[in-house]
Amino acid sequence: MAVEVTPQGTQGTQGAQAGDDGTGDQARAAVVEAALAALDLDAKTRLLAGRNMWSLPALPEIGLASLVMSDGPIGVRGIRWTADDPSIALPSPTALAAAWDPDLARRAGVLLAQEARRKGVHVLLAPTVNLHRSPLGGRHFEAYSEDPYLTGAIGSGYVRGVQSGGVGTTVKHFVANDAETERFTVNNLVPARALRELYLAPFEAIVAGAHPWGVMTAYNTVNGTTMTEHRHLVQGVLRDEWGFDGFNVSDWMAARSTTGAIEGGLDVAMPGPLTVYGDLLADAVRDGRVAEATVDDAVRRVLLLAARVGILEGAAPVVPEPPATVDGEALAREIARRSFVLVRNEPVRDGSPGQEPVRNEPVRDGRRILPLDPARPGRVALIGAAARDARVLGGGSATVFPARVVSPLDGLTAAFPDGALSYAVGADPSDELAPADQGFTLRALCRDASGTLTGERSLPNGHLQWLGDDLPDGVPYETLHSIEIKGTFTPRESGEHAFGTRGLGAFTLTVGDRVLFDGFQDLGDESDPFEAFFGSPSERGKVALTAGEPVEVSLRCTLDQRFTPPLPGVVFALVHLGPRRDPEALIAEAVEAARAADTAVVVVATTERVESEGFDRADLALPGHQDELVRAVAAANPNTVVVVNSGSPVELPWRDEVAAVLLGWFPGQEGGAALADVLLGTAEPGGRLPTTWGALADAPVTDVTPTDGELSYSEGVFIGYPAWEKSGATPSYAFGHGLGYTDWTYESLTVDGDAGPDEVTVTVRVRNSGDRPGREVVQVYAAPEVPDIPDPRDPGSGAVLERPARRLAGFAGVEAAPGETAEAVIRLPRRAFEFWDEGAGGGANEDAGAWALAAGSYAVEAGRSVADRRLTATVKI
Ligand code: BGC
Repeated sequence: MAVEVTPQGTQGTQGAQAGDDGTGDQARAAVVEAALAALDLDAKTRLLAGRNMWSLPALPEIGLASLVMSDGPIGVRGIRWTADDPSIALPSPTALAAAWDPDLARRAGVLLAQEARRKGVHVLLAPTVNLHRSPLGGRHFEAYSEDPYLTGAIGSGYVRGVQSGGVGTTVKHFVANDAETERFTVNNLVPARALRELYLAPFEAIVAGAHPWGVMTAYNTVNGTTMTEHRHLVQGVLRDEWGFDGFNVSDWMAARSTTGAIEGGLDVAMPGPLTVYGDLLADAVRDGRVAEATVDDAVRRVLLLAARVGILEGAAPVVPEPPATVDGEALAREIARRSFVLVRNEPVRDGSPGQEPVRNEPVRDGRRILPLDPARPGRVALIGAAARDARVLGGGSATVFPARVVSPLDGLTAAFPDGALSYAVGADPSDELAPADQGFTLRALCRDASGTLTGERSLPNGHLQWLGDDLPDGVPYETLHSIEIKGTFTPRESGEHAFGTRGLGAFTLTVGDRVLFDGFQDLGDESDPFEAFFGSPSERGKVALTAGEPVEVSLRCTLDQRFTPPLPGVVFALVHLGPRRDPEALIAEAVEAARAADTAVVVVATTERVESEGFDRADLALPGHQDELVRAVAAANPNTVVVVNSGSPVELPWRDEVAAVLLGWFPGQEGGAALADVLLGTAEPGGRLPTTWGALADAPVTDVTPTDGELSYSEGVFIGYPAWEKSGATPSYAFGHGLGYTDWTYESLTVDGDAGPDEVTVTVRVRNSGDRPGREVVQVYAAPEVPDIPDPRDPGSGAVLERPARRLAGFAGVEAAPGETAEAVIRLPRRAFEFWDEGAGGGANEDAGAWALAAGSYAVEAGRSVADRRLTATVKI
C-alpha cells in the first residue's frame, strides 16, 4: 500500500520554519532598532520610496544594501526586461494550482528562490492570490483558482518554498483585484461577508500558514477606499487581526497620496524615483501632517525585511545557506505534466455531430485513445500554429524570457520515431502583428541629438524594453535622443510580410529600401499608461519577401518630449506578421494530414491580445478559425486529441466530437517535452480543474466592467462552483475534474468529529482499480444539511443568509499501484463550518463583524470533483 498525505489547512508548522520562528526575528529586531536610531528623517523617507523601477536605496551609513524586487510569479525576470537575461519559465499559476499539490508549489518556490539569488533579487513580487471571480478576468492565468481554500493552500506552499530559499515574497494584490478593466481606479463594492469568506481568505490562510515577509496592495479601491490607503484592511485586518509582520509595498504606481498612503499602512511606494514618499513624506512630517513615529514603523518593517533577506549588516538572515540546487528545466517539465488536465478520454459516440463515416479504425477498438502505445504510436498529424510557436506563458508583468522553449513540435519530434510525425498549421489564431522574433537578427543602436552613436546592445527579439537605469553601458538618459532597432530578417515563408510599430513616439520604419512609416504615434484614447508597454501594434505596410532571402530592417524611435512615459524607460517594438494564407486552404491541408495519420493532435490556443494583463476578455471563444479546424479534423479522423494552450477557460463547443481533450494551460518552457511524456504515457496528466470551465452564456458571474467607476460584487459569496450549483446550469467540466490514466474506486470514508469543529478528521480509502500506477486527488466537500441560516442581524424576521450547497474543505494527493489502496487523512479547517457574521460586534461600521460557527449537520463528501462525489458521511457541528 502506498500512502501519501498532503497536509492541508491554514495552519502549518512548515510556515514557521520557513518564515523563522520568531527567535531569530527578536535578534533582528535589536539590529533594526539600532539602525533606525541612526537614520535621520530624510534617510528614512528615502528608504520608503523606490530608487528606481525595482529597488530601494542603499543606506551605507547603517550597512544596508539596496533591496531588489522582481516579478513573479512563474519565473524571476530580474531587473532587466529583456530576453538576454534569461530565466526559467515554469507553467502558469493556473497550471500550478491544477496540480492540487502544495508541496509541488513549495518546490516551485525553492527553484524561484534559486533564480532570485542568481539574479541578485531579494523579494519576489508573487504569488498572485486574487480569485477567478469571472472567467473574463484578463489576469485569470496569473491567479490560482475560483476557490479560496485551494488558492490559500497553493499560495502557502509557494510562499514557504520561496522563503525557504531566503528570498521574500509579496502576496498580491491585496485585495479584490480580480479583473483588469479600469484597474487603477475601479471601486469594487464587495459585501463584507464575501470579502471575508472569499477574497481575503487566501491572504489570511497564507499569513497564518506560511508567514509571508511581504504583501502588495492593489491598484483598485474597495468599498470607497483605494487599497494603498486602506487603513482598515491593512492595519486593522492584515496586521492587527491576523498578525502579519511583513512589509506592504504598493502595486507599481498605485500610491497616490503621501499622507493617505502612510496613514493607510503603506510602507513602500514603488517604483521610483518619482513617488509620493521620499522628500514629500519628509515634508509632511516636518509640517506636522504625519507623525514621525508612523514613518518609523514603516522603516522598521523595511529594515526587518532587509534583515531577513540578509542585506542589513549585523543581522543574521533567516536562511544563511541557500538550499541544494534544483534542476529548473526538469522541474518545469514535471510541473507541466502534473498540471495537464485530461478532461475527456473516450471514443466519439456514433452519430456525434460532425462525424463522417469513419475511414480510420475506430478509436483503439473502442478504448480510450490516451495514452498512445509507446511501442506502436503510429503516425501522428500534429496540427496548430501554437504547436510550432507555443504560447508558454502569460503576458504583462508576469513575462519572463526563458533561454529555450520546447514547443509541442519540438517535444513530439524528439519523442516519436523518425517519420512518425507530420505538421500542419491548420489555423493561425493570431492575426495581429507580434514582436519580431523567428528569423530576425537585431541590435539596438543609441544616438545622441547630433546622430553620434553613444552605445549599442544586442536584442534577442523586436521588443525593446529598457526600464529605469537599464540602458546600454555608457548611455545616459540625458543625451539619449534616438534608438534604432536594426538588423536582418530571413523569412521562413514567401509572401506578403506585414511590418509595424508598437509603442509611443516618433518612428521611422524601413524594410529593404522601402520606408514604410515616418511619423508619430501618441497615446490616443487609452487611459491605462501601461498601454505604452503592452499596447496594440500598428501595421505600417507590407513587403513581398522570398523564403530564405534576408532583407535589412530598421526601426528608429526618436524620443519625443510630447509624451512623458509613466515610468522612466524606453519601450517600443518592431512588430511583424508573416504571410496570411486562406483559412480554408489551411484547414484543408490539416484535414489531409489528419486523414493520412492514425492520430491527429490539434493544439488550439489563445493569443497575447486575447489573454494578458491590462485588459479583460470580451468572450471565451478561441480566436480565429480554430473551432472550425477542430471540427474538420475530428470529422476526418476519430482519433483526434485536442490540446488546449490557454491560461484560463475557453469554450470547447466540439468537445464531444473528439476522442480526448487535454488542457495544457500556459505550460512553461518545457511544455512540449511534458506533452510528449503525457501523450506517450511516460507520465499521466496529473491535473484537476482549479476552476470551472463552461460556456460564457451559462457562467453565473461574468461582469468585469464598472458602471460609473463602480463594480458591484452583488453575487456575494456565490462565485465559481457554488454559483454554478446555485444557478443549476451545467458547466462543460466541473471544478475538481480530471481523469488521469487510471481508475479509482472510493472504498470507505470515516469522519472523526467528536472533538469539535477544530478537530474534524476525514479518512478516505481509495483503490487504484485501473491498470497502471497513478495519483489521485481526493477532494472533500462540506455540505451543510440546511445551507440557509437565520440572519443573525435580524433574528426572528425570517431573513436568511444563503450559504453555498457545499464548499471544498480539504484535499490530499495519494499514489497507488494497480490494485492497491491508499488512504488520505485530511483535517478539515474550522472555517469549513463558519460564516462571517457581518453584524457581530454591533453597528454598521467597518470594524463590525466576526466569524461565527454555523452549528448543525454537515454531509462530508469525498470524491473526484464537485460533481463526482463518491462517498458521504455526516458530522454534527
Ligand atoms: C502589476 C504587478 C507587478 C508590477 C511590477 C503591476 O502592473 O499589477 O503585479 O508586480 O506591475 O511589474
